[in-house]
Amino acid sequence: MKVRVLGSAAGGGFPQWNCNCPNCDGLRRGTLRATARTQSSIAVSGDEENWLLINASPDVLQQIQGFPALQPARALRDTGIRAILLIDAQIDHTTGLYMLREHRQRHAVWCTRQVREDLTAGNPLFGLLEHYCGIDWQEICLTGAGFTPDGVPGIRIEAQALTSNAPPYSPHRDRPEPGDNIGLTLTDARSGRRLFYAPGLGEMEPEVWRAMQAANVVLVDGTLWTDDEMIRLGASGKTSRSMGHLPQSGPGGMIEWLDQLPSTTRKVLIHINNTNPILGEDSPERDELSRHGIEVAWDGMEIVL
Ligand code: MLT
Ligand code: MN
Ligand code: ZN
Repeated sequence: MKVRVLGSAAGGGFPQWNCNCPNCDGLRRGTLRATARTQSSIAVSGDEENWLLINASPDVLQQIQGFPALQPARALRDTGIRAILLIDAQIDHTTGLYMLREHRQRHAVWCTRQVREDLTAGNPLFGLLEHYCGIDWQEICLTGAGFTPDGVPGIRIEAQALTSNAPPYSPHRDRPEPGDNIGLTLTDARSGRRLFYAPGLGEMEPEVWRAMQAANVVLVDGTLWTDDEMIRLGASGKTSRSMGHLPQSGPGGMIEWLDQLPSTTRKVLIHINNTNPILGEDSPERDELSRHGIEVAWDGMEIVL
């Protein structure tokens, strides 16, 4: 099984179009050693030919351009994307579906009932796509056993509810219910090796923690370094936790949790917000991650299991 990081940034990307925070400004001016990143998405394949797109980022066209395995190769109109899975209904994970509207058949889109509702009402994306290729909704049930989307052999997926937040246009905003956000365990059918993926993880609940402990690789929420990062910068009035993202530093933060995993577990942060100091490759925060054996995902990173 191969996991390819298509976009390692949180919503807005890095640099963000309207942002002058020290990171975005430093990257534009060339005064900060850092790497640009597109918005949140990964792709996974069991055979390196047929791919499951996990989240459809607003940057999906650029991401496809940077990854030949997803490009047309077999017919006049073609793609290596066999199915799409959405872990929530947020803009940064769903807007790319508009860009994939020219598909020659209906897209198989896997998501929970709650996400489907938000993408039918608050954000009427699914209905709108009926005017183009259309989508076939494949329900992700949180009670059921694992599943393998049609066309993507060699991978087994288990989804679990986790606490993060629903999008602002959801009736569940600030009152999230199970199914608004999920984490995924991706297992290679041959080797049995597992990767746990959760770019939006607001609380370390027992089930989530068990899944992380059972994984060989964890690819988890790296949105913000401190809970009040956006407030202190004057970028937003919201804390990290209220947006459904566990900050990395401080008591009960992601670093403390990752420290408790076995030393053999590979630990990688993804969904990095442009304000996060870990994006500065020479920053003390990045050094601190390195001392804890924690990596920072980048666009184009590949993880083989
Ligand atoms: C989030 O992860 O909290 C959202 O994607 C934020 C956003 O897209 O504005
Ligand atoms: Mn996001
Ligand atoms: Zn910024």
